[in-house]
Amino acid sequence: MFNRLCRWRGGRAWLAGWLALMSWMNVVWAQSRPAPELYQQHCASCHGEQRIGLMGPALLPESLERLRPAEALKVITQGRTATQMPAFEGLLSPEDIRALGTFIYTPLTTAPQWTDADIRQSRLQPPTPASLSDKPVWSADPMNLFVVVEGGDHHVSLVDGDRFESIHRFPTRYALHGGPKFTPDGRYVFFGSRDGWITKYDLWNLRVVAEVRAGLNMRNVAVSADGRWVMAANYLPHTVVLFDADLMWVKTLPAVSQDGKQSSRVSAVYDAAPRKSFVVAL
Ligand code: HEC
Repeated sequence: MFNRLCRWRGGRAWLAGWLALMSWMNVVWAQSRPAPELYQQHCASCHGEQRIGLMGPALLPESLERLRPAEALKVITQGRTATQMPAFEGLLSPEDIRALGTFIYTPLTTAPQWTDADIRQSRLQPPTPASLSDKPVWSADPMNLFVVVEGGDHHVSLVDGDRFESIHRFPTRYALHGGPKFTPDGRYVFFGSRDGWITKYDLWNLRVVAEVRAGLNMRNVAVSADGRWVMAANYLPHTVVLFDADLMWVKTLPAVSQDGKQSSRVSAVYDAAPRKSFVVAL
């Protein structure tokens, strides 16, 4: 008991010293600004004012589900080599970096909006080249093609399934989700990204045909068996969105209860070919 008391006394002295140090550090910390301000100054230009992503990926709790907070701190401190994500070590104090680390995992106070107008305006269509081939411009068997999604550095490789040789490799949107989906003729493939982008890619001509941002955080896309429709399942907002095969917006269906009081995020959409419909999992 005596022993324990002694240790406690020692502990108190230690605690007093620590508190003194903390109050001194508070003076230093007091000079640093709140995380939202730091974010606007240092991060918003690439990650968006609302954290919904711009040139850089979205930084919302839903988007960061697979990134451990400790890893996020490391990314902010050291940056990511060979990407545009800069290192903030030296520029921001470790406390500021920690505050930002907490901030990006905090839900937005008002649910971020992504309206039908936003979806339509987001659509991108690179100019169509004068001549497009109506058969593959490469020689492998088009029905024995591996489309390999390289998660780490956001590229896709097309691999000849007979010879296991790479035909082509191209950069993709950040963090593709849910697997590539093909049109029945095998010519086009659709990719869905974590941040809601759908990319339609012409495998025969090795080019992006069109892109559209269906939501802010998306789980996957499905293509109808006849290749005419594409549907996206979103976590943010709580919707499924229907497009035609050119990624022109057709309809948004909110995932809400019939009385409109409850909504749900949508965790997946599948094509149910035999019943000619899409099936949605909430
Ligand atoms: C010049 C643009 C730019 C600025 C400024 C910037 N970032 Fe980034 N950030 C990126 C890019 C691009 C990536 C994606 C890197 C990759 O391809 O892995 C990224 C990735 C990240 C990631 C990892 C996300 C994930 O899902 O793995 C975090 C966390 C992050 N940034 C936080 C921040 C914070 C916090 C700030 C401000 C202090 C900031 N970034 C400023 C461009 C930027």
